[in-house]
Amino acid sequence: MERRKILVTSALPYANGSIHIGHLVEYIQTDIWVRYQRLRGHECLYMCADDTHGTPIMLSARRLGKTPEELIQEMYEEHTRDFRDFHIEFDNYYTTHSPENRELAEYIFQRAKEGGHIVERDVEQYYCPDCGLFLPDRLILGTCPACGAEDQYGDACEVCSSTYGPTDLGNPRCAECGAQPVRKLSRHYFFKLSDFAEALKEWVSGDRVQPEVRNKLEEWFDMGLKDWDISRDAPYFGFKIPGTEDKYFYVWLDAPIGYIASTKNWCDQRGRDFREFWQDPGSEIYHFIGKDIVYFHTLFWPAMLMAAGFRTPDKVFVHGFLTVNGRRMSKSRGTFIKARTYLKHLDPDFLRYYYATKLSASVVDIDLNFDDFVHRVNSDVVNKVLNLGSRLSPLLHKRLDGKLGRLDEDGRELMARLRSSLEVVAQSYEELEFRRAMKEIVRMAELTNKYVNDRAPWDVVKTDPERGRAICTAGLNALRLIAGLLKPVIPRMVGDIEKFLNIEPLTWDDLSADLENHQIGKFSLIARRVEMKEIEGLIADSRESLDEKRVSPTSTPRGREKIEPLEPEITIDDFIKVDIRVGVVLKASHVEDADKLLELEVDLGKLGRRRIFAGIKKAYDPEELLGRKVLVVANLKPKKMRFGVSEGMILAAEGESGDEDVFLLSVDEGAEPGDRVH
Ligand code: 2FM
Ligand code: ZN
Repeated sequence: MERRKILVTSALPYANGSIHIGHLVEYIQTDIWVRYQRLRGHECLYMCADDTHGTPIMLSARRLGKTPEELIQEMYEEHTRDFRDFHIEFDNYYTTHSPENRELAEYIFQRAKEGGHIVERDVEQYYCPDCGLFLPDRLILGTCPACGAEDQYGDACEVCSSTYGPTDLGNPRCAECGAQPVRKLSRHYFFKLSDFAEALKEWVSGDRVQPEVRNKLEEWFDMGLKDWDISRDAPYFGFKIPGTEDKYFYVWLDAPIGYIASTKNWCDQRGRDFREFWQDPGSEIYHFIGKDIVYFHTLFWPAMLMAAGFRTPDKVFVHGFLTVNGRRMSKSRGTFIKARTYLKHLDPDFLRYYYATKLSASVVDIDLNFDDFVHRVNSDVVNKVLNLGSRLSPLLHKRLDGKLGRLDEDGRELMARLRSSLEVVAQSYEELEFRRAMKEIVRMAELTNKYVNDRAPWDVVKTDPERGRAICTAGLNALRLIAGLLKPVIPRMVGDIEKFLNIEPLTWDDLSADLENHQIGKFSLIARRVEMKEIEGLIADSRESLDEKRVSPTSTPRGREKIEPLEPEITIDDFIKVDIRVGVVLKASHVEDADKLLELEVDLGKLGRRRIFAGIKKAYDPEELLGRKVLVVANLKPKKMRFGVSEGMILAAEGESGDEDVFLLSVDEGAEPGDRVH
């Protein structure tokens, strides 16, 4: 096969947040594909970098009392450690705040300008006089023009989902400091995307994007391509636009250019030319991205490349989002799991394997279900694959000097059957149908286990050692083949298998030959089964308390807290009217057709039992509430609801991000049902 020259990228993560298991879907997906290409012997460069520019990063640094350079340096170190420990094997992990990126951004801008694709226009925007800052949409809060909800951002309402511009908001405020912004004119640079409409239509007409993405693009083409504002005013953390005093390139202009800059940085260190990858028609370029940044990668980005005379991507692969146990990741439920927290509890290869069993070439969201996770990794990886080694290797050492013999007829038949799957697996990897590849490989492992169990080599060696050796030889050859196929997915474990088999790192070509008359090494434990209690530990470790959230510098703009209205003052006499009691949850269940409510039966000691409907369904599962002590407003007038009468109210704290951000209040050990709270 001809040796392909492939350049692959994953989206550049922002340098103001930690890598979490949602990000990892993409890096693992990309890394598996890259490792597969390398296994096949192709030259496959994997390029990435931190995305370091923009207002949010500038403000995060300011809040932390650091310079943006300090902040991005710290994040760079954290990100590279996390990726390394998840075995994400970049050829270069760089930064967009680099000399190469500045040079390339200026070059591309200049080429676009020379081509007549840049225009200047005045733009009216909100400006906060206190912060001295033009406010991006996400830094303005106000009243939604559609539904009247308070505290909505400048681009869309989280309550009614309508979208609008920041100047449509009622009573606008700076989210950073609470001050009232003023409207101010400023000169901006625009990239004329519509100049590339025909070329872009041509570009997407092949199989460069998945069908569902192409449909979306058709819609965008029909709506007409608008000019893109690529400049921002000072103060801004980024690259100054040449020839201006106070204008900067918008972060989204220089971010994808970071793909080229990372390549250039790598090439320069090796005396190679980055144009080999970015101009030479003999190379291939693939971008892996999430579904939220399709517009940038399939319209702006190819148009910029065209304007500058670079190659356009051969494919843009779009994946969906991650849900955990069927819901959005949530800090309060402990499912917003950072890469580092995961690593403290579980093996990275297990997550890599699990994601592989879920990933396909489609844009649908994938779900990490922890019961399923435990079952899959234990049943497939530990019981079906690694067990082949832990059963056959000790047997071979104990009885047969640890030496593989020759395959007999029976063993050759097994290997031929297994090898008939090679093509399906190869094709599945190539097409990003990892789910299908994993199914096929597990089927191969099942076949091998049956082969070994049916022949019981542990008995056979007692009477016919050489036949026993032949069975072990077949079983371990099968393991070697399976390990080779799993190498892109679970690289650490396969490395350990190679070690105990005493072989050189496997390549795809090795898989068609057998391993015979070969001394193997000692087997040592490669992975233990995952226990549910490890998952529970991981979730507990990821659960953020309300206190932590309040001080978190990146969670929400600070302005929100300052402007939160207080209820009117009350006297102690007012307060005493509220009869709060300790209760114990006896029963908890879902309420049909209610997406926020759980029905609870609560024991209030001498006050008897109460039925209470509580709006906590998005934050709690009924099972976890059983036996839990809660605080109940016991003298609340019973309320008739669509589902029945609610006889009280459970006390809970509410965070800022809505229904799932709810925290039941609890009491210390020793309190009894019915005790009064003062
Ligand atoms: O959405 C994001 O997280 C961006 N930081 C992705 C940038 S990808 C590329 F264009 F740089
Ligand atoms: Zn302000």
